[in-house]
Amino acid sequence: MYSRIAGTGKYLPERVLTNFDLEEMVDTTDEWIRTRTGIERRHLVADDEFTSDLAYRASLAAIEDAGIEPGEIDFILVGTTTPDLIFPNVGCLIQERLGIHGTPAFSLEAACSGFLYALGVANEFLRGGQAKRALVVGAECMSRIIDWTDRETCVLFGDGAGAVILEQSDDPGILYSSLGSDGRYRELLYASTGVSVTPRDGEGAALRMKGNEVFKVAVKTLGSMVDEVLQKNGLDKGEIDWLIPHQANIRIIQAMAKRLRMPMERVVLTIREHGNTSAASVPMALDTAIRDGRIKRGDLLLLEAFGGGFTWGASLVRY
Ligand code: COA
Repeated sequence: MYSRIAGTGKYLPERVLTNFDLEEMVDTTDEWIRTRTGIERRHLVADDEFTSDLAYRASLAAIEDAGIEPGEIDFILVGTTTPDLIFPNVGCLIQERLGIHGTPAFSLEAACSGFLYALGVANEFLRGGQAKRALVVGAECMSRIIDWTDRETCVLFGDGAGAVILEQSDDPGILYSSLGSDGRYRELLYASTGVSVTPRDGEGAALRMKGNEVFKVAVKTLGSMVDEVLQKNGLDKGEIDWLIPHQANIRIIQAMAKRLRMPMERVVLTIREHGNTSAASVPMALDTAIRDGRIKRGDLLLLEAFGGGFTWGASLVRY
């Protein structure tokens, strides 16, 4: 028994903040942001819009794409680090809006690797026969944990959601899943407050990052992970049809493409349009390249991500 991707969807909130808008807010330039990161704009939620709203809309698109009814879903898992509430979790919030009752619905937090973690877990539930059809989502409102006065981080992130419908299949879809983490690096990338760590005077929740150091560990760790995926699956470099990377920085993505000996035409790049949307980035990139016709049924895909924790994950997928 395997699981396969039956449908995909995404949703980006309407409000757009360009690099030129950011020039008015902090000491930065469009040129610096574009050349260092590949980002030109990001989408931000409205004041009354929350992670579950983005997740719900992406889920509707994936459900329609899969040609199913919401009632056919029997497992819901959302990767997010920016949930609406402490509880109910985002999975429960979208379950209710989709009119589904009784199925397991939960969210997990693994920062930018959240979708890869969710996909890996859902795959195990389907393969183990505990569910037949899963809704797997990556959704974030990063704008809510950004310090908009910190030029080193505020130019990087955006909001969005991506979703897939994963269903049981006799033919292999998810071929291999690799997940990892290392808590030693917590000081390099973290959000300063949470639920049990309450804000200090005058300090709201804020993402803090030593970008330069994150960059180096990300390239090294992702490199070892993609080597492991190839080796465990008896694949040569160049045998992957499409790389669908986490969209954090174009230079990290280029390093991965080089390591895999893949031309950039075979790499799905969406970072220009929405920056780093954390757990939403991989399913949004997947949906983009499926809908514009680049990715076709039967193609071999490598999905990968790296994020706070540190956490990392990859999935080898026959679409
Ligand atoms: N605009 C203009 N200048 C900026 C700036 C901004 N928005 N942010 C930082 N700078 C400055 C720095 O202050 C520094 O100035 P200095 O040389 O006078 O000290 C200079 O630019 C270089 O900073 P540095 O951090 O070395 O740049 P970099 O080439 O490493 O690029 C990142 C910075 C954040 C784009 C890059 O390190 C990165 O993408 N890291 C990975 C982050 C990531 O992916 N995080 C999420 C993981 S999921």
